[in-house]
Amino acid sequence: MAASEVRNMDIVARLAAGETLGDRIMKVNHAGENGAVNIYRAQLLASCWRKADLKSDLRQFLEHEKRHRAVFAAELSRRGRRRCRSYWVCGVGGFALGLVTGLCGRPAIAATTVAVEAVVLQHLDAQMAVLSSMDPAAVSAIRAIYDDELAHRYKGALDSSAGIFCFRVLRPLVSWATEAVIWLGMRL
Ligand SMILES: [Fe+2]
Ligand SMILES: [Fe+2]
Repeated sequence: MAASEVRNMDIVARLAAGETLGDRIMKVNHAGENGAVNIYRAQLLASCWRKADLKSDLRQFLEHEKRHRAVFAAELSRRGRRRCRSYWVCGVGGFALGLVTGLCGRPAIAATTVAVEAVVLQHLDAQMAVLSSMDPAAVSAIRAIYDDELAHRYKGALDSSAGIFCFRVLRPLVSWATEAVIWLGMRL
């Protein structure tokens, strides 16, 4: 996330009645994790006849994303905040993306994983930097999921060799869509 985006986030969060930047980021992250849950859920569904190792990775990613969603849900509940308006958009969009890429096979799945997780990690880094002095609870919620996201990106990158086309076309597209959903979530 660029510094200007952080400033924009700050402005938007201040405009929302009684809401802090940390509140807004927890909402957007919670919605994003719902998107991730649905990506991996749909990819798993679409990969039912594929190799066991791929399914086992997807199953593990899905379990991680469910835990991440629960971490942000608990933090929102502790703050007495409702979920983001983008929650269902993320869920439906994530499921559609997961279904299409899951049907396309392993290279498309790997490209999607790397694209989504790279954007997510960039945002998490920027969020922790901007929240470090103002919202330690939000920072610890982000820290609680960070290593899993690193591992997802790493594993996706290991799978990338077979899918040059996917990485040249699909990856930028998915990165853009992920950025767009986060942008939308910060403004809803
Ligand atoms: Fe996640
Ligand atoms: Fe992830």
